[in-house]
Order: sequence, then structure tokens, then C-alpha cells
Amino acid sequence: MSYGRMPIANGFLTPDQYKDEYFFELKPAFCDHCLTFQIEEQPAPEAMFHDHYAFFSRTSKFMQTHFKEYAAWVCDHHLKGDSAGLFVVELGSNDGIMLENFAKRGIRHLGVEPSANVAEEARKHGVNTIVRFFGPDTAADIVTEYGQADALIAANVMCHIPDLNGIAKGADLLLKRDGVLIFEDPYLGAMIEKTSYDQIYDEHVFIFSALSVANIFAAYGFELIDLLPQHTHGGSMRYVLARKGARSVAPSVAEITASEKAAGLHLPETYEQFRKNCETSKEDLVRILKEEKAAGRRVVGYGATSKSTTILNYCGIGPDLVEFISDTTPIKQNKFTPGMHIPVKPYEAFSENYPDTALLFAWNHQTEIMEKEKSFSAQGGKWIVHVPKVKVLG
Ligand code: TMP
Repeated sequence: MSYGRMPIANGFLTPDQYKDEYFFELKPAFCDHCLTFQIEEQPAPEAMFHDHYAFFSRTSKFMQTHFKEYAAWVCDHHLKGDSAGLFVVELGSNDGIMLENFAKRGIRHLGVEPSANVAEEARKHGVNTIVRFFGPDTAADIVTEYGQADALIAANVMCHIPDLNGIAKGADLLLKRDGVLIFEDPYLGAMIEKTSYDQIYDEHVFIFSALSVANIFAAYGFELIDLLPQHTHGGSMRYVLARKGARSVAPSVAEITASEKAAGLHLPETYEQFRKNCETSKEDLVRILKEEKAAGRRVVGYGATSKSTTILNYCGIGPDLVEFISDTTPIKQNKFTPGMHIPVKPYEAFSENYPDTALLFAWNHQTEIMEKEKSFSAQGGKWIVHVPKVKVLG
């Protein structure tokens, strides 16, 4: 299966950079041995995570609330004892949106974040951060300087890391004997169910399931002890792992593993059907956009998400079909989308001159956005959403 030639999903650029734009072939694959779903080729991590990384977690209020709740849940369920003796490390701590909640509780913490610009933002929020990729070397250095950790946590990061063996080795070095590894990422079960293939892009090497996570970490002595489905990113899963036998295993592990088998997540034919569903989704979306254009209606994209790069490039949607994309992230504004070169404009370009139709690329923030954009809908604005099926709302 291939989505064809793809640029870096967060590689928003200016016209003088077009000639040097980086492309690779976005080919997902399923391994029926270890049951991972992953992309075959990934650009070098340094091409994606650097001092001008375009994704700041703080842009969504919903995500701020989510991370506050995530941190509270970690504290309530997995951190025992006096907060002064605890130590929590986060992988890919971005702008500190999660760790600031530990900092406020007076818990010793450390963010490990390879993108210098977002790490700088975290420090402004009182979050102790080092600019590094995580692996056994980083883990060893952290242990030397701070001691072992009670929890190693991550959100929307683990699926970015090709060397999962390095992560598992690092976790083994870093965590205390009864320490926990907790992470959440877009969930394979949700992606297959909703044909949300836009979860697949350069940064997401893996789309995990409980079956694959259990296999990967079992090799390093860890077992799943709990699983918690999440609404974030259009359907995610929180995985909780501990050293085998160190903690009790919640019933969710057997339940969700059984539901994955019932959905065929361990079978190649499930992914054959997924490929066909992607092709149908592409045909439907391009047809609707062409109909809008033929009817003389203006279509504007809402949210220049990383996910939209896969949609736009796989479907061949350029500025002829989508006039521009509005986005609230300053670093993306007044640039052009990777590969298809659609202009990205500030939010005001949308609100001050409503189009006829908005194509909702940030579909995972649909509730928050629909609430915010009531006046667009009230004056007759329509929405195109492509997940779980391509349709026009309003
Ligand atoms: P995400 O789907 O990866 O969280 O990225 C969301 C992108 O959408 C990010 O670039 C910010 C943008 N966005 C808006 O422009 N308006 C909004 O109301 C929301 C929630 C996000």
C-alpha cells in the first residue's frame, strides 16, 4: 500500500524553499509477526524535529484540559508517597503543557524534548527541559544526574520514534523497580474503524494497538497493566506498562486485547479492506471539492494540521480546489502547505470573509471548533468532514 510521494507533514514553507523540498514515499505496512502497523520509510528525525518545529501543543484549549486531567490521573493512580520524593520524566514534552501540572504540584520532573524552540517555550512555563532525543544514553545521563524515575510518560510521542528498542532499553534503565511507563497515541483500532488514514504521516512511524505494544515491550520485561481509550486525536489509547509481575493487571487489558482480535487487527485482510476504504474516501472527497468548484463556491481549509498533508498530497488537492487554509499557529501562517503549496493564513482570513464551505482538516477538534464557529454555520456556511466518511454538514 502506498500514499505516494509525500513531503514532511509539518514542513510549511515559503516559495523560495520549493526547489529544495524533501519528499519520500509514504508506504504503510503491517507485520503479521509482531502485529505492528508502521510506515516503511521515514525521513531522518533531524528533518522533522528541530529548532523551528511547527507544532505547539498549547494551541488547543481542549488539549490543555486533557493534559491537566492526564497528569492528575498519573498522580492519583500511579505515584505513591510524598511528592518531594517523586521524579517524573516526559518524552517529547513539547511546550510543557503536561509537565507544568507536575511542576505545580511540586513534583520533581524533567522534559526530554528534541525540538529546541518548543523546549524554550516549556522553560518559560517553569518546566525543566533538556533538548535531546531519548534513548539508553540519555536515560543513563538522567539517572546519573537525577536518580531513577517513578514514571516515564509520553503523549503523542512514542509513535514518532522508530527505535522502540532504544526506548524500551532506556525505560528499563530509567525506571525504578516498580516504576511505570505510560503513553498515549493515536489508536489503530480507531483509525481502521474510521478510515482516518491522515493519522499516517512521516512523524507517525507506528500506529499502535494493545497487541503490538504488548509484543514490543515484552522483549524488555514489561507487561501491559492497564489500557484506557481516549477521545484525543480522533481516538487514542493510553497504555500503562510495568515490569512483569511488579503491579496488578487491570481487566481492561484482556478486554481490549479481545476486542482487537474481534476487529481483526491481527489479520492482513483487515488492512486490505482499509486500503480499499482509503481509495473510496479519496474519490469521494475529490468529487465533492470539484462539485463545489463547478458551482462557483469558495472552499477554505480549517486547521493546517500535520494530518492534512497526507490528505492533500494523496488526493492531489491544491490551491485550485482549496483557496487557503486558516490556522491559529503563528509559525505556519503566511507560509504554504507542504507538497501542494496551498497558502496558510491567520484565522482572521476565515472569520473576516467567510467562505461558502470549510473543509475541516482539524476534525479531531470538531466539537471545540463547531462551538466556536456557530456564526459561520448560522449564516449558511457548510462544513466538509472526511472522517469517518466524507460528508457535507449544514
Ligand atoms: P492537531 O490536529 O495536530 O492537534 O493540530 C491542530 C492544528 O489546527 C493546529 O495547527 C492548530 C489548528 N487549529 C486551528 O487553526 N483552530 C482551532 O480552533 C483548533 C482547535 C486548531
